[in-house]
Amino acid sequence: MKMHLDEKIWLILSFGMIMGMMLFTGYQTFVLGMGPPSHMETIDPQQVDETAPFNEPGITQVGEDEYEVIMTLELFSFNPGDIEIPAGSTVHFTMTSKDVTHGFQVTGTNLNAMVMPGHIQKISQTFNEPGEYLVLCNEYCGVGHQHMSTTITVN
Ligand code: CUA
Repeated sequence: MKMHLDEKIWLILSFGMIMGMMLFTGYQTFVLGMGPPSHMETIDPQQVDETAPFNEPGITQVGEDEYEVIMTLELFSFNPGDIEIPAGSTVHFTMTSKDVTHGFQVTGTNLNAMVMPGHIQKISQTFNEPGEYLVLCNEYCGVGHQHMSTTITVN
């Protein structure tokens, strides 16, 4: 097979670019240890109700303008739902699923997390603007998926 020189150059260039990107991604993953933080902590999804802190889901004030929310997600609800907090609060969410993979997306914010059974998901957000924020499950989880929602009210 006869190949033009410029064809060879392009082949070598594109192959080199792919190799470069794969090496860079591998370096980030294995040398720098970059990756989704949600896989760090695990839990037995069958024992969520008996495992602290998920045996007591709810909102706790942990500091001035700082709250902790322990939340379980299941078909098709968020527990606790209808969260109310004062404006300016920083909320630390600790979440897990009791059954299948759910989503936790809060409209009007950058909050968007995947909540998987067997894994503990942690994410924080400061709510400065008063209003009612819609919380949605954005991972298809079954026939009631479209009804899986709640609100966070910032006063
Ligand atoms: Cu939970 Cu969709």
